[in-house]
Amino acid sequence: MSDKKATLAIEGENAIDLPIYSGTIGPDVVDVGALTSQGMFTYDPGFVSTAACESKITYIDGGNGILLHAGYPIDQLAEQSDFLETCWLLWYGELPTKDEKESFLKVITYHTMIHDQMTSFFKGFRRDAHPMAILCGVVGALSAFYHDSLDITNEKHRSISAIRLIAKMPTLAAMAYKYSIGEPFVYPRNDLDYTENFLYMMFSNPCEPYEVNPVLAKAMDKIFLLHADHEQNASTSTVRLAGSTGANPFACISAGIAALWGPSHGGANEAVLNMLNEIGDVSRIDEFVARAKDKNDPFRLMGFGHRVYKNFDPRAKVMKKTADAVLKELGVDDPLLAIAQRLEQIALEDEYFIEKKLYPNVDFYSGIILKAIGIPTSMFTVIFALGRTPGWIAHWHEMISHSHKIGRPRQLYTGPVQRDFVPVEKR
Ligand code: SDX
Repeated sequence: MSDKKATLAIEGENAIDLPIYSGTIGPDVVDVGALTSQGMFTYDPGFVSTAACESKITYIDGGNGILLHAGYPIDQLAEQSDFLETCWLLWYGELPTKDEKESFLKVITYHTMIHDQMTSFFKGFRRDAHPMAILCGVVGALSAFYHDSLDITNEKHRSISAIRLIAKMPTLAAMAYKYSIGEPFVYPRNDLDYTENFLYMMFSNPCEPYEVNPVLAKAMDKIFLLHADHEQNASTSTVRLAGSTGANPFACISAGIAALWGPSHGGANEAVLNMLNEIGDVSRIDEFVARAKDKNDPFRLMGFGHRVYKNFDPRAKVMKKTADAVLKELGVDDPLLAIAQRLEQIALEDEYFIEKKLYPNVDFYSGIILKAIGIPTSMFTVIFALGRTPGWIAHWHEMISHSHKIGRPRQLYTGPVQRDFVPVEKR
């Protein structure tokens, strides 16, 4: 914190001093709490300029395209770390020692199975239900099966719930996929690592042996890692708001999954692939770029733009390299990648996108990789939710571990002033 202050002179009123706090890096914040006593609120729809909390987990510098998890740059973690190590980093704020990592991997491995009665829970859904609808439902239902450790004031209970969520998300995600294609559920295997296990549960079947391609497993792990956390984005803020009421962690994560589903947020990766398919050919790119620039056309270039990044999303850079590597390994010549690369080139040269600082974001290339791995488009946001789970649960844990208030924003009211009721015969 600091002893700096802002002075707010309100017309006709006495000026008031508002404390300014400084973080370790990044913008200072003005504490506006004193405004309430002046009978005023701040007004910031979409929370464009609002710091909703203090956090030590992730730092983003949108102007310079920087993303740090507990100080470690995302490109270094993507190149040298792995998803489960990043899960530990987000929760504890430090990279695990060799022993810590070994015991963490073991405890995750031995929590990948779900309560067998949950399989009948799946069977209540229609086969053509969107996998995100299924995931939302079954993650929320985890609190109906794992209620032995839901005292959120107990650090051990919080840790057990976090382990259960990180360990079981791949199993639940793969089950949602298998259910949608009418194939039997595949149980996790304890001899496979986290991401190999996910691909095994997604693509193997009981009729023949299945070998996981190590290049695809590495690419999948990188995709999980790149999605692990991203500061106070919409779904993480949803988890924090739900958690501030004292709701159990499974309900909070289910709320985060619901928020992530929107095409402006985590649903964008699915929307990017649908857009590339709709464009269909590089010759039609100009038509779609024109539509994206047309104020009267609601169409936006999915995978471009970001509330915080006004430069390249550092995750998109890593994702682009991974896409090239995966397509080369598979010998896949995906015409959608050619459209994506041409679209990126045109957009980045276009005055509209330059002026509005619209760059490719994390969702722009991830879909190309997921499609090459064989993941169906409807599962793309499920993959995002799986990757984001450690970030969500780390923010929930950080909030619950410290004294916090229930989140309760106010409003600018523009509705009718008080008036008396009119009986129906007099209307
Ligand atoms: C994620 O918050 C996070 O960190 C999210 C995320 C994470 O890891 O959690 O990074 C993941 O959600 C990435 C974003 C995925 N969404 C998309 O790719 C959907 C397409 N992008 C847009 O919908 C938009 O860019 C947002 C939602 C991402 C950001 O919107 P903002 O910050 O509210 O900005 P805005 O809508 O006010 O746009 C500013 C201007 C507007 O023009 P003007 O009204 O000023 O004239 O830029 C235009 C917009 O019309 N604009 C676009 C555009 N994005 C913004 N125009 C065309 N195509 C686009 N994609």
